[in-house]
Parts: sequence; structure tokens; C-alpha cells
Amino acid sequence: MSEPVLQVDPALPREERYAALLKIAPSVLHDSPDWTACMATSVTLLATHLPEFFWIGFYRVIEPSLLAIGPYRGTLGCLTIPFSKGVCGKAAREGRTVLVPDVTKFEDHIACDDASKSEIVVPLFDREGHLVGVLDVDSKRVEDFEDDDREALEKFAGIMREALHRELSDDE
Ligand code: SME
Repeated sequence: MSEPVLQVDPALPREERYAALLKIAPSVLHDSPDWTACMATSVTLLATHLPEFFWIGFYRVIEPSLLAIGPYRGTLGCLTIPFSKGVCGKAAREGRTVLVPDVTKFEDHIACDDASKSEIVVPLFDREGHLVGVLDVDSKRVEDFEDDDREALEKFAGIMREALHRELSDDE
């Protein structure tokens, strides 16, 4: 079976690149054997379609109230983030997307890299509704994220959830 070739024109409007991403993601991620495989492949998918963002990656839930770095592309990320801290912690704690137009106005922002000026963090859930981690995307531009980004990245998180290998049930 030949693998799909990713060809994305970075000059296309972001909206069109999101559409291409959401179209190809289900087949690329289908039957991911575990979350690490799914996250690692997702980073490349996201980074290929959204090259304007300088940090794209995942933090994983490793204890009830602690996140640890997962697969990412960009400058060095913090190794761990407690649920009580930062934009990632807030998204994990509240189980909802947190969009920060200007990180200097978010009191609790954790600056892993001073280049980050705006960011969006989307929670990732498994099929049972348990939080498995968060997707964090950072931009060097202030106010670089809008509701369209939220909508597309939340859809992407839903595709990841559905792509995880489904255990065979007893009667299959
Ligand atoms: N800024 C994030 C920390 C992670 S880095 O951006 C990679 C936060 O405040 O949670």
C-alpha cells in the first residue's frame, strides 16, 4: 500500500489548508496503534498544513493533574506542566479549548519560548470521554488565532479520537 503524499501549498488561505488537513487526516491516522503514534503523525500533518506556526505539539496526561511533553515540532517545550498552571493547564483542568490572542495578557502564561505571542490549546479526549492530553499551537504573531482555528483544531482532535485502534469487542 502506498502512503499518501503530503503536498500543501503554503500560499493557500489557511481556511483551505484546514479543509485539506481535515480531509486527509482520517485516512492517515486511521487505526493508530496508540496515542504516541497518533500524536507523532499528527504533528507532521499539522506542521505540513500550517507552516506559519512555530510550535505545534502535544502534552500528555501522565498523572491525574500533571501533563508531560509529547511529540512536538518547534523549540524546546517545558517537560511538565501541572493542571494548575499555564494555558495548557487551564485547557486540561477545564476540558475546553483556551484561545489566547495575546500571551502578555494571560497572567498565568508559561513562556517556554519568548517568541510565542499568541496560542491555542485544545483538549484531547478518548472515546470514553477521558482526557488524554492537549494540543498546543503557538504563533509568533499576536492575535493569530480566531474561532475558525478553534473549530478546525477541535475537529482535528475529534479525528484523532476516532482514529485510535478500536479494540475488538467479544462478539466480533
Ligand atoms: N505556553 C504554554 C506552555 C507550553 S509552550 O507554549 C510549548 C502554557 O502556558 O501552558
